[in-house]
Amino acid sequence: MNILILGSGGREYSIGLALTKEKSHNLYFMPGNGATSDLGTNINITDYEKLALFAKENNIDLTIVGPEAPLVDGVVDIFRKHNLVIFGPTAAAAKLEGSKAYMKNILKKYNVPTAAFIETTSKEEALNFIDSMQNTPIVVKADGLCAGKGVIIAQSKEEAKQAALDMLNGSSFGDAGTNVVIEEFLDGYELSVFAICDGKNYKVLPAAQDHKRVGDGDTGPNTGGMGAYAPTPLVNDEIYKKIEDRVIKPTLKGMQAEGAPFEGVLFIGVMVVKGEPIILEYNVRFGDPECEILMPLLESPVSELFYYGATKQLDKLDIKIKNEFAVGVVMASENYPYSSSKAAEIIIDKIVDEDLKNNSHISFAGVELIDGKLFATGGRVLVCVGTGNSIKEARNRAYALCGQVHFAGKKCRTDIAYQALK
Ligand code: AMP
Ligand code: GLY
Repeated sequence: MNILILGSGGREYSIGLALTKEKSHNLYFMPGNGATSDLGTNINITDYEKLALFAKENNIDLTIVGPEAPLVDGVVDIFRKHNLVIFGPTAAAAKLEGSKAYMKNILKKYNVPTAAFIETTSKEEALNFIDSMQNTPIVVKADGLCAGKGVIIAQSKEEAKQAALDMLNGSSFGDAGTNVVIEEFLDGYELSVFAICDGKNYKVLPAAQDHKRVGDGDTGPNTGGMGAYAPTPLVNDEIYKKIEDRVIKPTLKGMQAEGAPFEGVLFIGVMVVKGEPIILEYNVRFGDPECEILMPLLESPVSELFYYGATKQLDKLDIKIKNEFAVGVVMASENYPYSSSKAAEIIIDKIVDEDLKNNSHISFAGVELIDGKLFATGGRVLVCVGTGNSIKEARNRAYALCGQVHFAGKKCRTDIAYQALK
């Protein structure tokens, strides 16, 4: 197939890499990064109408959308209008990520378990709700997309009130914060569960755990994610079943009833509290770096998963998952997530160890080719992925690979997958 992938991160690279392994596709990336050009052709057409014309002229059989922004902006609707096959939700369904207030109201309407909340644009209502809350911390969220930064975990009512007022005044997140969600704090362990959906049918992938904070021991500010592993032993069949019955099925039914059937990746942010899965949030795309560790765990061709998903035929597909584990360690640049860092050349040692060569790989993210050399230019530069028969084995390989990668200012967490190895 001719396949177009939208996005430029490690997530999109990992999808491209998995497709390359099938040896039967011709890949395009928009815009891609300095390493996706090894897997296919990078193009730069940012107008979605023009991109759809490119897809028609180049006989693109399938388009896969990585990040949320083009989905919320309606790229799927535009491609569909041109009768192109594209995997992802329409703008209407992408509101599940585009608006936290919309998402919370859908959860409530269709009885999907989630933290008690209010959604409001009124300062008075926000302050009264905070006063009425029994416990702290209190979670205050800006409604719109804030690149993962719009969530404040306030330790006191005063702090919660200040956060809500700053958002409602527009001083912290601009327009994204003029509507806020205030909710109770859930104390448990967090999972990322991904369901590939076609509006009606779904396939659940192995549950992953992300590491959002920049520092070891979950310290420092939030990031896009510093590493992930899957499957996590913290999930048993009972929890998967509860997630299917109480979360995925009612959400797919509910979105159909709303006239916005959900197609694409439903990324379910779950907090497991005393064995019960409670939904923190939905995203409408793969997580990054979760995608990088899930792609290598798929035994079935990933092109089938995306194509059957995009053409509403998931009921006809039987997907096979490898009986293995994957661990991904993000290597970030010096100043991530605070500010950008100076471009630094990336040197990767020749891997001579057969075991490492066969069971690890790099997913490239914030990299650029400058004069034919690869440079670290983004915050999250690349992900070292190890696979193995245990989490420990996969993790050892991921870290061994990290040791073979060099660039000035490189940093990574040293405790990825600690939750599974306690
Ligand atoms: P969100 O963007 O809604 O996933 O929030 C970002 C992060 O904040 C989540 O991954 C959680 O770690 C944390 N978080 C969000 N909502 C809650 C909550 N109600 N209770 C505890 N932690 C939360
Ligand atoms: N790794 C979390 C995310 O992609 O939002």
